Amino acid sequence: MKLVRTSKQLTRLLRRDHARGRSIGFVPTMGALHEGHLSLIRAAARQTRIVVVSIFVNPLQFGPREDYRRYPRPLSRDARLAHEAGCHVLFVPSVHELYPTGFGTFVSVEGISDRLEGLVRPGHFRGVATVVATLFGLVQPDIAYFGQKDFQQCLVIQRMVEDLRVPVRVRVLPTVRESDGLAMSSRNAYLSPDARRRATILFQALCDGRAAIRAGERRPAAVVRRIQRRIARDSSVTVEYLAAVNARTAEPLSRLRRRVALVGAIRIASTRLIDNLLVDVS
Ligand code: PAJ
Repeated sequence: MKLVRTSKQLTRLLRRDHARGRSIGFVPTMGALHEGHLSLIRAAARQTRIVVVSIFVNPLQFGPREDYRRYPRPLSRDARLAHEAGCHVLFVPSVHELYPTGFGTFVSVEGISDRLEGLVRPGHFRGVATVVATLFGLVQPDIAYFGQKDFQQCLVIQRMVEDLRVPVRVRVLPTVRESDGLAMSSRNAYLSPDARRRATILFQALCDGRAAIRAGERRPAAVVRRIQRRIARDSSVTVEYLAAVNARTAEPLSRLRRRVALVGAIRIASTRLIDNLLVDVS
């Protein structure tokens, strides 16, 4: 595996692979790699010839009061894990490398970015879409891999790729969970042992919502009430949003039908957790 830090090194390294028509798989990350990230890298290694992984804690997608500074950056561990999972090229640019002086182009995916996460984190998806578009331009992958864990991020990227005719296939892989159901996340490292024990409540609550749908409930508000009821058992948890939405558009529904996403964001002791479940309503 090669670790490269500049765009020039990266494009020079990939030039031959592109020229020879080797398929390139790309996994963009912010590092602090866990099994969720590694599942994407392994899939890329199975499906493409050259696997590129990026690690970049993207300041553009963090709000002013968010955790940009304290976001974990365990680079040597990440490099080892990425290598073991099948990464060939690890791209770790600096902020100045990706956003040199004068950088002034931003990608804002309207509609989808304005709901749920987008309301609580204004500017977040603009930062995500801008960095992913920049990275796509540098890597020019055939297939890019994303995790279902970030449900709305996947929709934003898919919309961007479709609208801007970016020649890349986007694959979304299932959420990898801890044995108690907690969705793996680099931010889980912030949880104290006590908060970690309680953090599984979001997954359990979404499962309650899914059970209600499976039992025949079709009113979104009733399903959300079921989810809320579980969350309310822990008075120290604050809810940012809980919703049952159209899984293709993240739009609200008047009645549950087809593919529904149960989505939620909560805070436990100042750590922000998000999760979602897809449910087929037949
Ligand atoms: P990051 O949070 O590091 O996640 C990188 C990729 O791993 C994303 O596609 C995310 O959905 C996926 N992922 C995270 N946790 C997962 C889990 N438990 N199971 C499966 N996949 C999981 O998402 C970002 O970084 C950034 O926004 C990025 C796309 C890199 C742009 O900066």
